[in-house]
Amino acid sequence: MHISLDNQVALVTGASSGIGAGAAKALAEAGAAVVLNYHSQAAPAEALATQINQAGGRAIAIGADVSNEAEVERLFAQTLEAFDHLDILVANSGLQKDAAIANMSLDDWNTVIGVNLTGQFLCARAALRIFNRQGLRPGVSRAAGKIIHMSSVHQLIPWAGHVNYAASKGGVEMLMRSLAQEVSEQRIRVNGIAPGAIRTAINRDATQGDAEQALLKLIPYARVGDVEDVANAVVWLASDASDYVVGSTLFIDGGMSLYPEFRHNG
Ligand code: BGC
Repeated sequence: MHISLDNQVALVTGASSGIGAGAAKALAEAGAAVVLNYHSQAAPAEALATQINQAGGRAIAIGADVSNEAEVERLFAQTLEAFDHLDILVANSGLQKDAAIANMSLDDWNTVIGVNLTGQFLCARAALRIFNRQGLRPGVSRAAGKIIHMSSVHQLIPWAGHVNYAASKGGVEMLMRSLAQEVSEQRIRVNGIAPGAIRTAINRDATQGDAEQALLKLIPYARVGDVEDVANAVVWLASDASDYVVGSTLFIDGGMSLYPEFRHNG
């Protein structure tokens, strides 16, 4: 199987670090021109764009808050100005604002739902409008557009102390599946990825020292994931190699969602 995304344009939100940066790099390596969206961290996003361009790829970085409708509209308009088309959206931006529910402020709730869920709605809507205007691009892809929603194992696994985050990811799952049902007859493919514990800034405290040992008890495959584990799946889901995959969530979690507590119990 040879995967090529030549002549395709991908937009990755939250691409200044972690899974988003890894996905952007992998999409560029597969041949796509890539827009790296960032919110506050311009420098690493610009640096990654430069790195991709120096390696012979095509990339630009664009700042925008995905929870803000006007900024999202500008992000997609600038994407078209730069690269003329859009074929792939990786709706990846996400954050955590953890607290026990009694201490969780409405701000912390709204910020997480705003970025993780409303942000994915706004970006998916903007992408779909472009895909519909563009139509099929023969010789480029069998689909008229691909959307990959970055979810989490916590679309399935309840998470005490993180109810805002878990609720946002539960919402992402039904956003993704409902959208897939709605737009697949337009030959637009919508799918999700549910990463488990991937070593990034979002879970730095949980993935080192004693905390890592405790975390590993929840991962049957007995290692913390790497960004590349997810990035490779993004490339596959964005490519025609997965052309018959519609409305699915791919769990990339080393088995975290397999109720590992039951291995020696129950
Ligand atoms: C969270 C990480 C966490 C992982 C597994 C992810 O969605 O962002 O902080 O380590 O789920 O619990």
